[in-house]
Amino acid sequence: MKNLLIPLAACILLSCAAKEPALKTAFDGKFILGAAVNTVQITGADVKGDSVLLRHFGAVEPENCMKSAEIMPVFGQYNWDMADKYVDFGTRNGLLVYGHCLIWHSQLTPDFCYDKEGNLISPEELKARMKQHITTVVSRYKGRIKGWDVVNEAILDNGEWRPSPFYQILGEEFIPWAFQCAHEADPDCELYYNDYSMHIPAKLETAIKLAKTLQERGIRIDALGFQGHIGMDYPNLDLYERHIRRVKDETGLDVCITELDMSILPTVTMSADIAEMSRVERQAFFNPYENGVPEDVNAAWNARMGDVLDMFLRNADAVRRINVWGVSDDDSWKNGWPIPGRKDYPLWFDRSFNMKPFLSKYINGTK
Ligand code: XIL
Repeated sequence: MKNLLIPLAACILLSCAAKEPALKTAFDGKFILGAAVNTVQITGADVKGDSVLLRHFGAVEPENCMKSAEIMPVFGQYNWDMADKYVDFGTRNGLLVYGHCLIWHSQLTPDFCYDKEGNLISPEELKARMKQHITTVVSRYKGRIKGWDVVNEAILDNGEWRPSPFYQILGEEFIPWAFQCAHEADPDCELYYNDYSMHIPAKLETAIKLAKTLQERGIRIDALGFQGHIGMDYPNLDLYERHIRRVKDETGLDVCITELDMSILPTVTMSADIAEMSRVERQAFFNPYENGVPEDVNAAWNARMGDVLDMFLRNADAVRRINVWGVSDDDSWKNGWPIPGRKDYPLWFDRSFNMKPFLSKYINGTK
């Protein structure tokens, strides 16, 4: 009897899990739902994470493995291992596979923009290197990647261009060049400009200007990526919504929410009060939920994330895709950023892989 009970319990558990409605179907016809994956999901080491991912999400984005420093530790020398596994994982499982990211100042191959003496290379040399890198990567996965974040985070919050090595060498021309190279390598691929804090008016202004410049020059761009790293106290959702509308109305482009997470922790600022705290006090202030989140705080997080999602749904004609930046809370980079060693709860599934309560109203009635 005992021998029979264990398989029986497993069957009941499995059939319950199989009956849980799939989140992605709740948003069918509205937007594509994706999640960022890292090595543990790609290699199958995170069995539970993979089962949640495959049940609930229809698309994947690589959290790290396609960034230039990862894929090409030294300029021209590629290590395809994890990127190949990522694309195979997505394709094998019938997911839409996205690429992130071709040109970014961070996690950048150290010698991408420098010569052997450590000086910035010439504009001609940088254009040649960008073309070489973009062509190599985009061609390798041609036809298998649905869309690429071509340029990431080129605009500062005040709307000025970030003085990255790319900008220092080529000025803002590095952006159209990157898009042109990506398009030539895979003409069918969707191409995006991606950035954070797109609720800041000056930043959005420059992003819209950039999109229009590309359009006027006949260079392909399909959407603006709003990263969507948000908090409990920012952005103002009316403003965020207006900015999604502005992109659609002023450029005709869609918005992709590419890296959605909402930190439950206090936003890191350095007000006078905080500056006066001791190190221990400051640690406790910024990392208050090491042993769990109080019910009222959880309720507030769920209410706000529900408001965020409702706003995206209201604007589903303009929001092409929502991509959550990780599967479960344990995966999130927010546990280590901007302060290492905090415990955050920013994603749609908790550390036990349970769906967060705000999602239940969307899946009611779906299969
Ligand atoms: C983050 C990853 O989540 C971390 O694992 C990594 O250590 C640093 O980068 N903007 C982006 C993403 O475009 O690529 C970043 O991802 C988060 C901010």
